[in-house]
Amino acid sequence: MIGGGGREHALAWKLAQSPGLSKLYAAPGNPGIARHAECVALDVGDHPAVVSFARKRGVGLVVVGPEAPLVAGLADALRAADVPVFGPSAAAARLEGSKGFTKELCAAAGIPTAVFVRARSREEARAALSRFGVPVVVKADGLAAGKGVVVAATAAEAEEAVDRLFAESGAEAVIEEFLEGEEASLFVLADRTSAVPFGSARDHKRVGEGDTGPNTGGMGAYSPAADVLTPELEARAMREIVAPTLAALAARGTPYSGVLYAGLMLTRAGPKLIEYNARFGDPEAQVVLPLFKGDLLELLLAAAEGRLAEAPPPRFARGAALTVVVAARGYPRAPAAGGAIERVEQAEAAGALVFHAGTARGADGALRASGGRVLAVTGLGSDLAEARARAYAAVALIRFADGFHRQDIGGRALAGGEGER
Ligand code: AMP
Ligand code: GLY
Repeated sequence: MIGGGGREHALAWKLAQSPGLSKLYAAPGNPGIARHAECVALDVGDHPAVVSFARKRGVGLVVVGPEAPLVAGLADALRAADVPVFGPSAAAARLEGSKGFTKELCAAAGIPTAVFVRARSREEARAALSRFGVPVVVKADGLAAGKGVVVAATAAEAEEAVDRLFAESGAEAVIEEFLEGEEASLFVLADRTSAVPFGSARDHKRVGEGDTGPNTGGMGAYSPAADVLTPELEARAMREIVAPTLAALAARGTPYSGVLYAGLMLTRAGPKLIEYNARFGDPEAQVVLPLFKGDLLELLLAAAEGRLAEAPPPRFARGAALTVVVAARGYPRAPAAGGAIERVEQAEAAGALVFHAGTARGADGALRASGGRVLAVTGLGSDLAEARARAYAAVALIRFADGFHRQDIGGRALAGGEGER
């Protein structure tokens, strides 16, 4: 397994439950993952080194967690060496790597998404703004870890966002129509020729209570997204968005294999695509995987080997999962490093799953923060209220003086009110 965050801890935890697993290596892994895998110091940017490691150890499947190695072509390098890999090629991962690519694919295939203009200079972007009202959305084209998007409420804010984008990255912008509705994430496993839904979730992207403050990678999530994504809407999203996307990629000779994460806006006119990601969500994996009832290794291997159509359809536990991200003070701007973390065992004993996202062990063996998002604490329950109570009860047991978390994950769904924003 490639990666070392909370998503990868959830993957490792679930993979370790597969009877077919003989040995799990994680590169680079983290202290939580180390309970399920041997962590190895491989440079995942060095593709020949990863291929050579996999061959020498007789690795039967490589699961790639994060997007960066996929966009960089790690899956291609492994496939070229006949190492089975769960994750898309660089060409297919452009769905996440380039918003402009995805928008143009949507336009060509008639996939519902926000009206957009691609701009390659500040002047083009400024001119494009005049074609939209406000609010309007300004996005940087490349990978930006959720930080490259500005929803501008006024023309002045939009212009400022455009100026900043071209001053900083100098690259390319997508200006698009603001979509109104509830957001939900749909996960789909694909193997070049077939695809199957693999759970849904809702993220909480803003750093502060009540969805305030800057965007983050995600401060908490729950699964399933049943309060807004009905089975009918999910089927419609599969039919109108996911299936034509996979067909368009296959027709271009770059079929998709791996997990496709569709970020959806459920508008009055139906589901529309906000964005695609080429991997599981983080922290969405920390709620989707604990509800999955099957053998993850077998399923991911079936996807990697193009046997998804023969595998039994994925089944999920009834009930819900909710995860609360505990972040280091200062996240997302300047997270405090090195804060001591204690009493994780007590939180686990209380019945929660504690996934390590940004932790490291000091020379003394003590657990310390080493990233912005530090832990993801997941509660499971027969319904969302129970899952939430279990997650927060466990968070309260953890001692992490330099940390903070949102108190309101899942709050609006339980209040039966509006979703994010
Ligand atoms: P993205 O990185 O494209 O997922 O965008 C990050 C967040 O910005 C999304 O989760 C939405 O909350 C918001 N967003 C992005 N595009 C739009 C849009 N066209 N309309 C409304 N909100 C959007
Ligand atoms: N939690 C959002 C993401 O993984 O992209």
